[in-house]
Amino acid sequence: MIKNTKIGSVITYLDWVNSTNNYVANLVQEGKIVHGQVIMSDYQGEGRGQRGSNWYSEPGKNLLLSVFLEFDNLSVSEQAWLLKYTAVSILTVIQNHIKTAKIKWPNDIFVNDKKICGILIENQFLGSKIKNAIIGVGLNVNQENFGQLNATSLKNECNQDFNRIEILESLINSLNFNLDLLLTNKMELQHLYRSFLYRIGAKSTFYNLKMGEFLGTIIDVNLEGRLVVQVNGELMEFELKEIQLID
Ligand code: BTN
Repeated sequence: MIKNTKIGSVITYLDWVNSTNNYVANLVQEGKIVHGQVIMSDYQGEGRGQRGSNWYSEPGKNLLLSVFLEFDNLSVSEQAWLLKYTAVSILTVIQNHIKTAKIKWPNDIFVNDKKICGILIENQFLGSKIKNAIIGVGLNVNQENFGQLNATSLKNECNQDFNRIEILESLINSLNFNLDLLLTNKMELQHLYRSFLYRIGAKSTFYNLKMGEFLGTIIDVNLEGRLVVQVNGELMEFELKEIQLID
């Protein structure tokens, strides 16, 4: 069973940090962090994204945070559920303001074909178990300009400023609520994830090393977290990082 404390019982606010995920990793090494602790920073000098990319965010405008979770009994094969848990929790918060927000597999949040939130989950394993997870979230709240990036924010979509602490609170509530689903009712999580999936049922262009660019239709994300795509009448399953949705 998971530890008894709630997510957000301890919140640390920083003005500046290299990366909130790195900061949490250091606290873990020093044994100075508790389950559910949230570290939030106004700015990151070296914010990290997926696949070794950088995560840029204007100071004081967005939510840049990491949540530390410890598990007693989550197996390595259940990693995909952590992605689903996080994506569903964030999506529900964004959908309170933007009904058209969707989860782009595996765990980006998109609004009208633009990215509004990125997630970077880093796990530590012990044998066949996930010992703990650092869930990093970069949610664009009040930033208006993204340069060349195909990105948007709550403000750009809703034409109003948002109180970042209110968004943080609702994210923490959502993470707490869905943690129960992760531990006791994964099928409900699966149902929610599917219902929020970007481009489901629509013809899209994909890229994969073996097949190059090809057309297909997203049918599902299965229980193991693989993307199920119909290609020329045939159902194919793709692992994380094995396929890219281009358009
Ligand atoms: C992505 O590439 O989509 C993932 C972006 C994740 C960014 C967040 S911001 C808070 C946390 N700290 C980091 O260095 N990265 C994550």
